[in-house]
Amino acid sequence: MNNTLSNPMSKVVALFVAVVMLMATLLISPDKAAAALPDGQYPIGVTILKDVNGQPSTEPSMTNSYIVGPKFLNVRNGKNYVSFTFTQSKQITHFKVNGVDSTVVSQDLAANTRVIEFEVPNLTQTSSAWISINWPEINYVNSYNVWVKYDNLPVGLN
Ligand code: HEM
Repeated sequence: MNNTLSNPMSKVVALFVAVVMLMATLLISPDKAAAALPDGQYPIGVTILKDVNGQPSTEPSMTNSYIVGPKFLNVRNGKNYVSFTFTQSKQITHFKVNGVDSTVVSQDLAANTRVIEFEVPNLTQTSSAWISINWPEINYVNSYNVWVKYDNLPVGLN
């Protein structure tokens, strides 16, 4: 029989190819590190960027002036949520991320602040967001597209 694999050298080559393919498969398999971050609260950097023609610009948005205190990544059941505190809480009626309204974690009516939270499946990407402001006392009733950028991510997420 003149089968190619009957040649001992071909068997060595075939085995070598199989080992290389196995190693490549292991190397290319999706990075599980991000999903493996333990549940908990991690301080991170969050910057709101201006939107220019539907794309994130490099310029910071005015929205940053209405965010105070630390920003956090909250990992729960393997899912990533980002939280921070808005000032002018009453006036900022909505902050949607990827089309979904952020949830209220807590609020301080006297201080006019609230802690909001939203899910971010991939923190290495900038999220599209939308902010709505209703401040009739100063005749400022506007809504804008903005972008949310994350940095100083915990090891395992960047
Ligand atoms: C809760 C308060 C406010 C929030 C969250 C807010 C947010 C924004 C956002 C997101 C933009 C779009 C450009 C960018 O991303 O920076 C913007 C633009 C602007 N805002 Fe505000 N803003 C607030 C209050 C005010 C006030 C009090 C004034 C002035 C009295 C003001 C004046 C302007 C002006 C002049 C622009 C640029 C005009 C434009 O691009 O249409 N904003 N603001």
